Amino acid sequence: MAKPHSLFVCQSCGSTAQRWQGRCEDCNEWNSFVEEGAPTGIGARAAGLAGKGRVFALEGLSGSYEEAPRILSGIAELDRVTGGGFVPGSVILIGGEPGIGKSTLLIQACAALANKKHRVVYISGEEAVAQVRLRAERLGLAKAPVELAAETSVEDILATLQQGKRPSLLVIDSIQTMWTAKAEAAPGTVTQVRAAAQALIRYAKTTGACVILVGHVTKDGQIAGPRVVEHMVDAVASFEGDGGHQFRILRAVKNRFGPTDEIGVFEMTGAGLSEVLNPSALFLSGRDASATGTAVFAGMEGTRPLLVEIQALVSPTALGTPRRAVVGWDPARLAMVLAVLEAHGGLRLGQYDVYLNVAGGLRIQEPAADLAVAAALISSLSGALLPPETVFFGEIGLSGAIRPVSHSGARLKEAAKLGFARAIAPAAAVEPTEKSRGADNGLIIEGCAHISGLVADIAQLAPRNENRKSARPPSVAQGAQTQGGSSSAVIALARG
Ligand code: TYD
Ligand code: MG
Repeated sequence: MAKPHSLFVCQSCGSTAQRWQGRCEDCNEWNSFVEEGAPTGIGARAAGLAGKGRVFALEGLSGSYEEAPRILSGIAELDRVTGGGFVPGSVILIGGEPGIGKSTLLIQACAALANKKHRVVYISGEEAVAQVRLRAERLGLAKAPVELAAETSVEDILATLQQGKRPSLLVIDSIQTMWTAKAEAAPGTVTQVRAAAQALIRYAKTTGACVILVGHVTKDGQIAGPRVVEHMVDAVASFEGDGGHQFRILRAVKNRFGPTDEIGVFEMTGAGLSEVLNPSALFLSGRDASATGTAVFAGMEGTRPLLVEIQALVSPTALGTPRRAVVGWDPARLAMVLAVLEAHGGLRLGQYDVYLNVAGGLRIQEPAADLAVAAALISSLSGALLPPETVFFGEIGLSGAIRPVSHSGARLKEAAKLGFARAIAPAAAVEPTEKSRGADNGLIIEGCAHISGLVADIAQLAPRNENRKSARPPSVAQGAQTQGGSSSAVIALARG
């Protein structure tokens, strides 16, 4: 047989090429090809084996199956993200930037399970045993019967695990540091990561142990190398947060055994990660209700309502092309809301820089935030202070219409729970039943049908002294004047 040629593998997406290329044609990453050995593992010699396979029986959809009980860690926020506990025989990939707290979270989960008499094995490929011990000591978990090792060879790890009772949970921190002799490529390359993950996944499936793989992500948020692993594992969760904030969010990205988009909220303290049972209160703490340009968004994360403050700053630009900067939301979505405000709300934003921030370092993905973003933008532009006890939610269409969003009941309930008195919601979503439910909560729900209604009503709240007026754009000032006589400070959006 001819000597197999070596292959060039994209370190970003795992696609292969016969020759080196400057740019990957699949993921458009530059300079990501690295020469690796000939392909090994599944599929490598498939052609030669054709016609020699074992025959197996095919079965129908109905039939008996056995469902092993899930393993609850007892850390409620973690169990929520896994969809109600770890599934035996499943593999979970937890990605996150270095230093975000992945190892801390997992050692806490290991200790919690070990204390419940499960066999738990924690393999660190990055830190020495002493370092892990030191952390456990700091966290007050040194007494938990977790079995620990600093190892990187997958073969050695699996051989060790064959001895003794099958572990309920095996943590591999991190998959990038693992290597297997079955693949010839250097440790850390896509080929190695894939081969090591394959071996560990096979171990999970054959023994019924739950395996957690830790993966580091690159700057742009992709799980480096392990992006190829994402397809192989049963669940992917990403651990997010930013250095300036204490809280961390574990977000389910993929889950074969539970809902995705579920989040768990933690706070990094001196004694490790603690659960945040009321995240809305946390995200709204430190809110300055007397500042313009802020609106509270009644959002949903998975099945859980979450209130968060949206901050906008609209200021005259000194540049030819105004700046638009967004933290925590989709820039394309902001561009759309700005365009709709111009086209259907009568605002002129071409001469203004726009900055948008989701307070607290949270990243929101919902289009339902459109209305809150628009309210914050109009407030900042006009200098009008939004009523502090009001929450906003609703999607804005390109026509300027406010479209209904899901889970309005849960959003309203959460707002009422946190002491809000009023909600501005899509008019179509405010049904008589919901109105009465709102009334039960003591919440006044006002329907908003079109963006122009929102602009006019917020403009009414704008201050009328001359200094401010000069700073305001003519359109909003005029809007305020045409609304003339009613200088009531109460926002009334029911007209739409
Ligand atoms: P770590 O779990 O090592 O991050 P990762 O495994 O994702 O790289 O967390 C490291 C950070 O967490 C480090 O900057 C210090 C901080 N930390 C605390 O603030 N309190 C603690 O109790 C612990 C253990 C860590
Ligand atoms: Mg770590």
